[in-house]
Amino acid sequence: MQANIVLLPGDGIGPEVTAEAARVLNAVADLGGHEFQLESHPMGGNAIDDFRNPLPPGTLAACKAADAVFLGAVGGPKWSDPTAELRPEQGLLDLRAELGLFANLRPVPVFESLVEFAPLKPELLRDVDLLFVRELTGGIYFGPRQEQGDGDVAHDTLVYSTAEVERVARVALRAARGRRGKLASIDKANVLASMRLWRRSVTEVVEVTHHLVDAFAMQLMRSPAEYDVILAGNMFGDILSDEAAILAGSLGMLPSASLGSGRQGLYEPVHGSAPDIAGRGIANPIGAILSAAMLLRHSLDLEAEASQVEAAVAAVLGDGLRTADLAPPGQRAVSTTEMGRAVAARLAGA
Ligand code: IPM
Ligand code: MG
Repeated sequence: MQANIVLLPGDGIGPEVTAEAARVLNAVADLGGHEFQLESHPMGGNAIDDFRNPLPPGTLAACKAADAVFLGAVGGPKWSDPTAELRPEQGLLDLRAELGLFANLRPVPVFESLVEFAPLKPELLRDVDLLFVRELTGGIYFGPRQEQGDGDVAHDTLVYSTAEVERVARVALRAARGRRGKLASIDKANVLASMRLWRRSVTEVVEVTHHLVDAFAMQLMRSPAEYDVILAGNMFGDILSDEAAILAGSLGMLPSASLGSGRQGLYEPVHGSAPDIAGRGIANPIGAILSAAMLLRHSLDLEAEASQVEAAVAAVLGDGLRTADLAPPGQRAVSTTEMGRAVAARLAGA
């Protein structure tokens, strides 16, 4: 098949992990006789430097025309001055909104070979298989806000409409049906009116268990194997999915897919730009590579290829390859490139 894939390498370790995701996509194309056209565009902090715009019009147009978009990471200390007018993160939020990507799928992969070294007790991690479905274009990220640079007050507003909640609840329901059929919805209905609307709207669409976010944050670490699909609003989903990275052994492991009503999607690792390790070639590219697998599955309908990539990742981890974030003390860590090459070589059957 032919596909036009836009790459937005972004900032910090973004370009390093994007290169490995691209390597794997190219390997998939070679093996299956597919033609993937990969083209890179500026976005994030680098685009602020060069175009004074974190999401330049040319980049947005290319994304709109693409079959799928892959993003590395955006942001960094250079652009995080509290008084800055332009923010890399705003480019990402605008891109999600412009492409209508209201449902963010964040699976938490727990690989057998990592269980022993994860921060939680191995017995807690047995049978863990979670999928977060995070609402992505509403909630407090997109409600009316007022910033008063030199004033004493600023506000952000948490707004949800029934329609916004119902459409993402339907995505979560569909996902749960293809899995163990269990759906947990997260809110703060004991305090926030918007979250009472959330709870009511979710209940209209699907039978779920409801959990208050504070207690759930604790349950997630205490008995993660109890849950299957976890539906949450924009901010709670952001926070809980980073917390869940503990289960996977490292934030560097987590992939994501942001989807709307069509096939087009935006795929990005859950981790950020990690400025502290950028440029050193030590970042874990697995979250990025697993995001590429999600791209194959959701935007290109290449399910077999997606599963092969996931199996190749499991195999190299099974062989003991570890980037620095995963390596136990005393074990040599492989570089970002070595990890990417190993996955691509596995795919090719080497
Ligand atoms: C994420 C990130 C983003 C978010 C930032 C970079 C805007 O934390 O994708 O989880 O908060 O959505
Ligand atoms: Mg986040």
